[in-house]
Amino acid sequence: MSHYLPLSRVARLVGESRSALQRLIRAGELTTFDGQIELDELLRVFPDVKWQDDGEYEHVEEIKRKAFGKRVYERALPDKEVLAERLFELGKEFAAAKSLLIHYDRVFGWLEERLVGFAEDDPGSADALMAIRIWLRRQLDEAPQEAERGKALLAEESVMRVMSVRVVVQPSGHEFFVEGNDTILEAALRAGISLNYGCSNGNCGDCKVKLVSGQVRKVHPHDYVLKETDKVAGAILMCSYTAVTDIVIEANVSGAGDIPEQTIPTRVKAVEFIDDKLAALHLTTPRSQRLRFLAGQRVSLNVAGLEGEYAIASCPCEDRHIELHIRRDNRPFSRMVFEDLRKEAPVTLTGPLGRFVIQMDSRRPTLFVAWDDGFAPIKSLIQHAMSLEVAESMDLYWISEALPHYQDNLCRSWTDALDNFRYRALSAADGADANVAAILADHADLGHFDLYAAGPADFLDKLKQAAFARGLSPLGWHGEIVL
Ligand code: FES
Repeated sequence: MSHYLPLSRVARLVGESRSALQRLIRAGELTTFDGQIELDELLRVFPDVKWQDDGEYEHVEEIKRKAFGKRVYERALPDKEVLAERLFELGKEFAAAKSLLIHYDRVFGWLEERLVGFAEDDPGSADALMAIRIWLRRQLDEAPQEAERGKALLAEESVMRVMSVRVVVQPSGHEFFVEGNDTILEAALRAGISLNYGCSNGNCGDCKVKLVSGQVRKVHPHDYVLKETDKVAGAILMCSYTAVTDIVIEANVSGAGDIPEQTIPTRVKAVEFIDDKLAALHLTTPRSQRLRFLAGQRVSLNVAGLEGEYAIASCPCEDRHIELHIRRDNRPFSRMVFEDLRKEAPVTLTGPLGRFVIQMDSRRPTLFVAWDDGFAPIKSLIQHAMSLEVAESMDLYWISEALPHYQDNLCRSWTDALDNFRYRALSAADGADANVAAILADHADLGHFDLYAAGPADFLDKLKQAAFARGLSPLGWHGEIVL
């Protein structure tokens, strides 16, 4: 009896990214059937993985968690009732497998009896029939070499299925995992999948989706009333429900143009002066009104009539926290941030703006290039790309006047945590031409790349022309001018 596992779960079991597994599949080194991987094939391709020792994988996950900022550790375990239901489901599977084994055992006993009977009826075939019987018995008694490893893998997979379940979004085919006591919506946002939602607390009904298969459970009450026809059609609210088993939902994944403009009253959580030229402004949105945006987009800020437009440096997965990098210059908004803005001050935020967003379905290797505080949208994009785990490789070039860069440690932690991530710090003092040359010296052919760059217009222009000359497709170029 074959046992198949979905690719996303295999990635977690072996501690590899989905893009790394896709590479093996493309190279013909790992065989899939209908997008799933058979247990024996998994053991063949990953003979050295210790299934009970996931320390390395945990280490990478830990750094990713820290890199993504605040994580709510108390959410690590599922809700008691959800846990009970998952264990019950697993128990049903165990009971079914056990009764199948009992049935096979009976069939085998019956077969043995028949072989003995045939041998008695036909003494001429007795030796051959007895040889078959002994061979069959030996096959059953001798556990195959792979049995222990297969057992360990299945044990780990079972624990994983109790702790987290898989969600497949139709028709796009995106996948993510619901962990701990996250709702389906929270899990989607953490995974960088942009699904439609509004209030995120059960009032507006914007997060309504159709449950195609699997079991869900309501974990937060909702005031929005689902009509009888909705219920019959299998509608659920993602912000109120969690998944009990692996589920399939029908929902649209949003692009940059699909997210409506929102105006949100926020408060200053902190103004962090990185150095005398740059401040990180941390804002908190109200519980009932988090900002819906895609990584790489901008917002307009208004404080008592003073306005400024900045790229968001945080990830959409970071709950209610919005981070913006404000450069010190002569603009009134910038001066106000450096001289007057205090904790708890009200800031009205309008957005999201712009289309500098990640191509969610691209599996191509990706170059990220930031010039100085152009790092803000690039940081958000990188975090999104990490959540999606689809880019084959990621290279970050950060060109700055001051070395080391203000979030140099963060970039190095990404390099340590991910084996497909590389980081190179460059100096603005070398000039635009030298920096473009330095970046392209590492990449002779950009024919299959995506390139995301944020910085001054003249630098972007030089980089774009040089990248096109190296074969970059116009569709692979994504530039954001930072004023
Ligand atoms: S987002 Fe408003 S009800 Fe779910």
